[in-house]
Amino acid sequence: MTKTLLVTGGCGFIGTNFIRYLLAKAPEVRIINLDKLTYAGNLANLADVCGNSRYRFIHGDICDAVLVERLFAEENPDALVHFAAESHVDRSIYGPEAFVQTNVVGTFVLLEAARNAWLGASAKDSARRFLHVSTDEVYGSLGPSGYFTEATPYDPRSPYSASKASADHLVSAYFHTYGLPAIITNCSNNYGPFQFPEKLMPLIINNALNGRELPVYGDGRNVRDWLYVEDHCAALRTVLSKGVPGETYNIGGHNEKQNIEIVTTICDLLDEMAPPLSAGRPRTTLIRFVTDRPGHDRRYAIDAGKIRRELGWRPQTSFQEGLRRTISWYLANDAWLKGVLDGTYQEYYETLYGGR
Ligand code: NAD
Ligand code: DAU
Repeated sequence: MTKTLLVTGGCGFIGTNFIRYLLAKAPEVRIINLDKLTYAGNLANLADVCGNSRYRFIHGDICDAVLVERLFAEENPDALVHFAAESHVDRSIYGPEAFVQTNVVGTFVLLEAARNAWLGASAKDSARRFLHVSTDEVYGSLGPSGYFTEATPYDPRSPYSASKASADHLVSAYFHTYGLPAIITNCSNNYGPFQFPEKLMPLIINNALNGRELPVYGDGRNVRDWLYVEDHCAALRTVLSKGVPGETYNIGGHNEKQNIEIVTTICDLLDEMAPPLSAGRPRTTLIRFVTDRPGHDRRYAIDAGKIRRELGWRPQTSFQEGLRRTISWYLANDAWLKGVLDGTYQEYYETLYGGR
C-alpha cells in the first residue's frame, strides 16, 4: 500500500538526504516536499528525482496556514516528517527573528493542520505520524562527562536551540492535549553530502581546498557527537515505522570529537585526497583560532540507548568511512559547491519552474 509522506524542508541538507534515501529504499512511499527555498534550500539537490512519479515538490512556507491546510486536504498524508527550520546557530545569534517565525510559528501551523485533518484519530491507535525532527542542543551544554538522555531537562542556550525547544514543547503538548500521534527525535551533529558550507565540516573543506584560513572558535576544544547523515535517515525511517507516539528518541553516533580534531583530520585527508597546496604546504598551517561564538556550548554527547534497545537502530557508518565519503562527495561536486557559494543555485527555481 502506498504511503504518502509530507516532508517539510526537503531541499535542505538532511531533508535532501532523507528524500533520496526513501525514494531509493522505500518503494511504497510517495513524498510531497514542502520547502520555502530559503538560502539553505537548494532545489538542484533533487533535480534528478523531480520527474519521479513518487515525488512532488511544493514551493511554500510552513507558516502559510492556508497552503498547509490545503496540502493536508489535497494529499491526505499518512505522516509528516518535519525538517523545515532555520538551522544555523551563528545566524540565530545575529538574527533570531526568523528562527522564532519558522521554528516556532511554522511548527505550530503544521500542528494545527495535522490536528484538524487527523481529528478523531486516537494517538495510540492511529497509523498517522507527526515526526518532529529536533536537535540535541535543546538539552544545553555538558561538562567533561555524562550524556544527554531522553530524561535530561531542557536547557537551551542559543536562540536556535531555544526555538527548537519551544517547538518540541508544542509538539509534546499536542500529543498530551489533543492526542496527536506525534514523535520527537533529538539528534546530534550530522555530516555528509549536500550540507550548506556555513556549517563546520563543509566550511573547512571548502576553505582548505582553496587555501583560505580555517576559523576555529575559541580554543577548539568544544565537543560534538558526529553522525553520518545516512544513519540519521535510517533512524528516522525506523522511528516512523516502529516509534511509539508521545515518545522522544535521542539519535547519536557515540562519536565525540573536539572541533580541532575534526579540522586537522579534514586537513590531513585533503592533503592526501586533493591536489596539494602551493609548495606542498600542509593544510593544517591554515588553521586560525578566532573569537569564540557567544554562549558556545562546550560539549554535546547523546545516549542513544533507547532507540537501540527499543527500535533496534544503530549507526552503520564509521567516522573514518563517513568522513572520507563526505570529502569525496565535495571533491566530486565542486560545481554544486561553487553554485551555492556564488548564489547561482537560487536561480534554479526560475530555470525549472519559471516557464510553467
Ligand atoms: P538546513 O538549514 O540545511 O535546511 C532547512 C530547510 O528548511 C531548507 O531547505 C529551507 O529552505 C527549509 N525552510 C526553512 N524555512 C522554511 C519555511 N518557513 N517553510 C518551508 N521550508 C523552510 O537544515 P538541516 O541541517 O537539514 O536540518 C533539518 C532539521 O534537522 C532542522 O529542523 C534541524 O533543526 C534538525 N537537525 C539538524 C541537525 C544537523 O546537524 N544539521 C542535527 C539535528 C537536528
Ligand atoms: O547538535 C546538532 C546541531 O548541530 C544542529 O541542531 C544544528 O542545526 C547544526 O547546525 C549543528 O550545530 P553546531 O553549532 O554544533 O554546528 P556548526 O557546524 O555550526 O559548528 C560545529 C562546531 O564547530 C561548534 O562547536 C562551533 C564550531 N565552529 C563552527 C564554525 C562554523 C568553528 O569552530 N568554526 C566555524 O567556522
